Amino acid sequence: MAYSDKVIDHYENPRNVGSFDKGDDSVGTGMVGAPACGDVMKLQIKVNAETGVIEDARFKTYGCGSAIASSSLVTEWVKGKTLDEAAQLKNSQIAEELALPPVKIHCSILAEDAIKAAVKDYKAKHDAVVEAA
Ligand code: FES
Repeated sequence: MAYSDKVIDHYENPRNVGSFDKGDDSVGTGMVGAPACGDVMKLQIKVNAETGVIEDARFKTYGCGSAIASSSLVTEWVKGKTLDEAAQLKNSQIAEELALPPVKIHCSILAEDAIKAAVKDYKAKHDAVVEAA
């Protein structure tokens, strides 16, 4: 199966690979797996607590080229977005941008799930802080 140029570009030059300290208050972590293939994706966001804007993002993906490209793309897209904007990101936007074929759609779903999980984790952390205060 041929990968699109955009997938190859992200695969060969992945953006924002790495991780933030999970314990950092400004960080939200989303870790998801695809049952279909066993691939795993970790996506993290760093949020400005005052503005609610995502200032930075990192990912680590153990998976196929499309999963790596999808997570790389998402880390680029969410920078500068608010938490709610990021949570609205749809896998279809990712699949369209990367021209993913039908068998690779689940790879983009993994990226959507990962960013949603990261936003949820960040929000859960901060609710907990408010309650504890
Ligand atoms: Fe499963 Fe790509 S083949 S995430």
